[in-house]
Amino acid sequence: MFSDDTQVLREISKKIEKIPPLPKIPQQAMQLMMKSEFNMKELSDIISQDQALTIKILRWANSAYYGIGNPVNSIHQAVTYLGEHIIWSLLLTSSISSVLMQPLPGYDMEVGSLWKHSLHTAIIARELMIKRDEKMAEEAYTGGLLCDIGKIAMDVAWQEHKAENVDTVKEEDSPLDFIFVEQSLFGINHTIIGSKIAEIWGFPTTFQETIRYHHTPSRSEKNPIITSAVHISDVIVNCLGIGIGIDGLQYYFEPFAMQQLGLDYKDIVDFMDNVVDLLKEIEDLMGFPLTSS
Ligand SMILES: [Fe+2]
Repeated sequence: MFSDDTQVLREISKKIEKIPPLPKIPQQAMQLMMKSEFNMKELSDIISQDQALTIKILRWANSAYYGIGNPVNSIHQAVTYLGEHIIWSLLLTSSISSVLMQPLPGYDMEVGSLWKHSLHTAIIARELMIKRDEKMAEEAYTGGLLCDIGKIAMDVAWQEHKAENVDTVKEEDSPLDFIFVEQSLFGINHTIIGSKIAEIWGFPTTFQETIRYHHTPSRSEKNPIITSAVHISDVIVNCLGIGIGIDGLQYYFEPFAMQQLGLDYKDIVDFMDNVVDLLKEIEDLMGFPLTSS
């Protein structure tokens, strides 16, 4: 799977192979949506084959957060009213929650920590983009939800490596960001692994690139604005201490990302002042805790 053949890479490859595929119905629906043209009736027909998924999407569609106003009673109505970009985000959120829910002992992350971190990163990334463009906002949401997926496989390497070694590497190499710690210790990091998992799952290359460069958005060629939004959101969620592990506060805002989004540090501070209230507000509007699946 990787060009180098070290013990740690073999273990990571084995772990990637064990990650379950996305559930069948959401995956079929998302594959349909990845085509250049598709029929919304066909999409709702696929979704309606999964009763639990249908109920979940109807619940979201009827929440105040999406502000439709009129009651939505059928999945076809939900698909039509919410539109393809929001439906994509809901399908992904629903299908990936169980994968992200697992504990990551190597990262010192308990059950639900990665899910909580990813969901908050997704929501804040969307908020950063929503005034610019709805499609880009939902792409930023997807990027936020998937950005740390590589940690699921990278965790096996951290389980072998004692967390105290992070400080040693920091002193020796003075890394600016946690991915450089991983790169120094293991010759790979969770962004590379995450983009590989997204490729295996069949996600478009733009999402693979956002995952690959969410710590270093200035290296993103295809998708610098979305990748920058995910980067800033990820750092904000880390600063807020939501779902963090041994990587703790070892993240920084890349100036390139701030420029891409036209933000300065005062904007970020103001945004962070409001973000906790915003997350609470979204939770109230959704009518259930964000951390529930
Ligand atoms: Fe990350």
